[in-house]
This record gives sequence, C-alpha cells and structure tokens, in this order.
Amino acid sequence: MQDNAATPGPGPVNIGSGPFMPDREILEHGFVPVEVYTSQERFDFEIEEVFKKVWLNVGRVEQIPDAGDFFVKELAFAKVSALIVRGRDGEIRAFHNVCRHRGMQVVWDQAGSRSQFRCIYHAWVYNTEGELTYVPERECFPELDQKKSSLQPIATATLGGFIFVNLAPRPAQSLEDFLGGYGDHLRTMPLGKYNFVLKMSKVLGTNWKLGVEANQEGYHVHSMHIRTVRDIIRTKDNPFTHFGHQEYYGPHRYGSILANPEWRPTAARPVHQFAVGQTGSQLYQADGKVGALPGHSGTNLGNCPNWATDSVAIFPNIIFQPSTNSWFTQHFWPIAPNKSLWEAHYYYPEPTTLREKFASEHGLMFNRDTVSEDYIALEKQQRMLESGAIQFIQFSRAEDHPRHQAAILAALEQRTRRFQQAAE
Ligand code: FES
Ligand SMILES: [Fe+2]
Repeated sequence: MQDNAATPGPGPVNIGSGPFMPDREILEHGFVPVEVYTSQERFDFEIEEVFKKVWLNVGRVEQIPDAGDFFVKELAFAKVSALIVRGRDGEIRAFHNVCRHRGMQVVWDQAGSRSQFRCIYHAWVYNTEGELTYVPERECFPELDQKKSSLQPIATATLGGFIFVNLAPRPAQSLEDFLGGYGDHLRTMPLGKYNFVLKMSKVLGTNWKLGVEANQEGYHVHSMHIRTVRDIIRTKDNPFTHFGHQEYYGPHRYGSILANPEWRPTAARPVHQFAVGQTGSQLYQADGKVGALPGHSGTNLGNCPNWATDSVAIFPNIIFQPSTNSWFTQHFWPIAPNKSLWEAHYYYPEPTTLREKFASEHGLMFNRDTVSEDYIALEKQQRMLESGAIQFIQFSRAEDHPRHQAAILAALEQRTRRFQQAAE
C-alpha cells in the first residue's frame, strides 16, 4: 500500500543545530534501546536539547482574536508558565508569566481578556505588550530601570493559525525553517473554518514518545481497535492499515489513512448507525457532506481514493489530523520518564441541525473511545518496559514513522554527546 517509490524516504534533519542524518542503525533495523523510554538521563536530554530548543505549538490564533485576549500555557517540563497575549497592535506575543519585582506569577487565570496585567503581590502593572507601566511607590525604587523591566519575552511565531513558542533565548531557526515543506501545506489550510468544540486531556503513566508512536503506525489497529475503528479503516488488500501515502519533511512525518469503502454501520450498533447516517463522522466519508479539508491542496497529498484523514507528526510531540469532516490535534507533553500530559483539541463544522449536532457529539465520543484503547494499553507497556525484562524493542518495516522519530532522537543524542566531549 505504501507509495514509497513516489516519495523520498527520510533525509537530513535540521532542528536548529545544523543538518544531521537520523540514526542509520535504527532506520534500517528498527531496534531501539528500552532505556530511551525509562531513563532519567535520556529524559533530561530530551528536555534540554529538544523541548527547550525547538518550536512548540501552544494554541491557536482563534483563542485570542482581539487585543487584550490572552491565555496561559503551563510548560511543566521546563517549569515555565507562558503568557500568550494579543497586543493593541494585533501582534501575538508570549512572555514568561513572572513579575520583574520579586518573581510572583503575574496572571493566574488560564484565559481571558484584559487591558493590563496587575501582579497580585504588590500591584506592579504590565501592558499587553509586556511593558512595565506602573509601580506603586515608584520613588522607593531609585535604581529601577522601568524600560528594562518588561516581562521577559518568549520567542513566538504563528503559521496556519497555530501559535508556536520557542523557549531558547535566541531560537536557532525560524518557525518556517523548522516546519519546512510541511509548513507550506499547513499555511493555506482553511482550519479556521472549523469551530473548536472540545478539549480532552489526561496525565498518562507513559513516556511521551509512546503516545506519539501509537499514532504513527496502523499495525496495531487490527488488534487494539477491534471495537472501534478497525473495520472502518481496514480493507482486505490493506489488512494492517498501512498509510496510503507517506512523506517525510525533515523531522516531521506525513501519512494518509484510508477509509474502507465497503464499511457501513450496522443495525447491531443503532446509535452509531444513526449518527453516521446523518452526516458521517470524522474518519469516514460523509454521505454527500464533507468539510472544507477534503480536496484542499494541503491534504491527501497522494490523491488516495477513499482518503479518510492525514496523520501528521509535527516534531517532537504533535499529531495533527485533518480529516474529511473535522480536524484535531494531540499533544504529548513530557512530565517524567514515565509520565506525560496528553491533550487533544477537536474542531468541527458548525452544526446546522440537531441531527448534525448529535452526529458530531457522537464522533467526538467515538474518538475518545478509540484513543482510550491506546492510552490504557500504553500505560501497561510503560510498566513492562520498566521491568527490565527486555533491553530492546523492535519496529517493523511498516512501523517506519515511529522508527524515524527514534532515529532522530538517537542521532541527536549521540551528536550532542560528541560535541560535549569535544568541549571538555
Ligand atoms: S512580585 Fe509582582 S508586584 Fe511584587
Ligand atoms: Fe491507536
């Protein structure tokens, strides 16, 4: 099923420290040491050399449409609270949510709209551009340089409506360079035509990479998802749900998941049948009604018949799925070697009838059930990896996307270690 002849395989990757090749051994043979999922040392490396240096998506521009609109994103892996705010000039900026007086957290709400931000401790005031505008009893701070006491900025950029931040004081590459060719697809997609309808999140007892991996291969679908999506996306000539088309964009990976055109909801599941019969749901073609994404030049890049959804891994921790009738993202944020925060955001068309509303609610819950099958299992996988019973896992040739992610991180770790040794 894979259209590998038409598309180049993995090439050099550049996430800001110069181009390098993913680890050849892992790419070719698929063996990955278990300790990359369990060791504190490896986890610390990923935080310092990946998560604190690359562009990370923290939200959407639609969350803050007007001047003064803001939200706060806690990036626990870095102990950073990021305040993202749209200024009076319409620019979106991000700041460390830390008062320049004595370090209090300035904004405590998760989101809202304000003309200024007042620290609760002693009432220093910052404007929406982060400048310190008011200090009570100003004369008692003769050495305060007010102009140099703005909230500390965090690098911010947007593309395709996604707001990214980069925690490096001076990011080594632009967001455009980081996203590379996939950014060109993302930039033009009409994602804003869909409404944000639901956020689901859960702290998982797994390494963050296990979540990314489970969303980057279809090999598990025939076994793990018997009760949910298996029959919807599996066909006789594609029994292990390989991607219909796949591409590599630097560290990012693109795959198209196909629908089974013969699948029909059965009377054995009447609610499912009713919901899907109305409008279709996210993974299958609606009967005559599809959203703005099918047919868009940025989706279904291989022009696969029976396209259902793209599954795009945006390095390091995002799964983005533009689908026939909706789109959604999943983020896997590292907390500890065996703990991560899963966040999913779902975007659906505005329902025009109660039936459509019902169908989209059903689609959401169907997706919840599907991903729950994965995450319950992944917690068991993590525990078994920690048992020490095996030293390596092995990815098949068809699990080449998770293999690619593992190969990038392994090569980066080796490279960083070589640089550090050379510097000592
Ligand atoms: S710590 Fe913010 S005003 Fe004092
Ligand atoms: Fe799954």
